[in-house]
Amino acid sequence: GHGRVVVIGSLNMDLVVRAARMPHPGETLVGESFAQVPGGKGGNQAVAAARLGAQVSMIGRVGNDANGNQLKQGLEKEGIDCTGVSGDPHLPTGVAVITVDDASQNAIVIVAGSNGALTSEAVAEHEQTIAQAAVVVCQLESPGETVFEAMQIARRNGCVVVLNPAPVTGPLTRAWLETVDFLIPNEIEAAELSGVKVVSPETARAAAWALREQGARHVIVTLGAQGVFVLGADEGREGGRHYPARRVEAIDTTAAGDTFVGGFCAALAAGRASDDAVRFGLAAAALSVTRAGAQPSIPYLHEIESSPGVPVP
Ligand code: RIB
Ligand code: NA
Repeated sequence: GHGRVVVIGSLNMDLVVRAARMPHPGETLVGESFAQVPGGKGGNQAVAAARLGAQVSMIGRVGNDANGNQLKQGLEKEGIDCTGVSGDPHLPTGVAVITVDDASQNAIVIVAGSNGALTSEAVAEHEQTIAQAAVVVCQLESPGETVFEAMQIARRNGCVVVLNPAPVTGPLTRAWLETVDFLIPNEIEAAELSGVKVVSPETARAAAWALREQGARHVIVTLGAQGVFVLGADEGREGGRHYPARRVEAIDTTAAGDTFVGGFCAALAAGRASDDAVRFGLAAAALSVTRAGAQPSIPYLHEIESSPGVPVP
């Protein structure tokens, strides 16, 4: 079956500069290229879930401007239901200013714009849509109270709740963590939230355990080229499992985490066990890393189907 995924979150226009290296403070650096690319963690995860087999609804907010129109049309082209994407009459669409260096590392500054005006009320209006979801996924580029409300609506409607706590702006309370079924931080976010420095699968296990003690259920720490570490809700402090990532030639890692999250959600919504969903998300993320830009780099289901050894929803 192809269950529904509802994504509640951000839509950004990414302003992407490629340069040999990151500029130093006060320095003017000559770059290599510039591109405007659809992004935003919410939008990226919605596109990933849709391309990877799920029916998807997006709840978010754009500005009444060219960027907003382009982002919304891009999602609609993927077959994503955008009934829940409202237009803000005053605020501009969110942007992300991204520098990618020759080592394919990125540095990102986001300005929320209309994403910052996605209210709890706007989300509550779409409770019927949320109720139809198998999986609901949120990130932290939207106001905290809105995200919390969205997750609570999802929970009382029996949906699986996934939170990608990105970017981290402070600790998550027990009430937050207990509302989430799958918490999916990257290594930086896991470290911030847990107080445990994450540099390896072993340290990811320690961070995941600390998060479990704070109230989290399943914790999936994404580790970039090192894959992911998963500590299940019923596993002990020495439990859990490391899933390595396929080795690829990295071109641009922007939205690799979002591709993992979207693919994971699509597979869960299709009824896959979380173990299969993790492998599927990893396969999708590995492909996305070999291509430039956020949404343009996200693969389609048939591309994953053609990679050996990957369980497909
Ligand atoms: O996760 C990648 C995304 O983070 C980019 O597309 C950018 O918009 C920022 O939100
Ligand atoms: Na990419």
